[in-house]
Amino acid sequence: MLLTLEGFMGCGKSSIGRELFRRLGWDAYDLDSLIVQRESRSIADIFASQGEAYFRKVETSVLEYTLALYDGSDLILSLGGGTPLRNAPLLKEKSCCIWLRATPETIIRHIGTSDPSRPLFGSDLRERLAERAPFYEAAARFIVDVDGKRADQVADEILAKIKI
Ligand code: S3P
Repeated sequence: MLLTLEGFMGCGKSSIGRELFRRLGWDAYDLDSLIVQRESRSIADIFASQGEAYFRKVETSVLEYTLALYDGSDLILSLGGGTPLRNAPLLKEKSCCIWLRATPETIIRHIGTSDPSRPLFGSDLRERLAERAPFYEAAARFIVDVDGKRADQVADEILAKIKI
């Protein structure tokens, strides 16, 4: 199974991905890390030198490449917060995508009010979240609300939904 984790920055995709990796022992990748490897520079550097449109192209290209190489084995792929903006139908078709849904309050609790490594994170959090919700919904096979839950509790819910 290809399990993808989607959701807004700071919803816990990486920590929940790590928890699932620990519990399941499946291979696990993080799309942002694959982008950093491909580009040999940080996400913040890509945004600063070439902007969001370029980042989105690379993000889609790395996702398509990863999906094209996918051999049907068990794999966890944590996505970037904006990956579904261009790729919701692909994610819906090719993966079992879990939307880790978080309120703005939870996101701020996880990240604070700014993070230099996340160039798009800022004061427009609520608007951006509302704009993205339809994309997350379109890609999702299952939705898990993460507010007030630890990573191991969220992992339990995911495993129950995918019946593992
Ligand atoms: C982005 C989220 C980031 C990263 C990039 C853009 C977004 O990933 O892909 O900074 O558009 O929400 P995380 O959600 O892992 O922070």
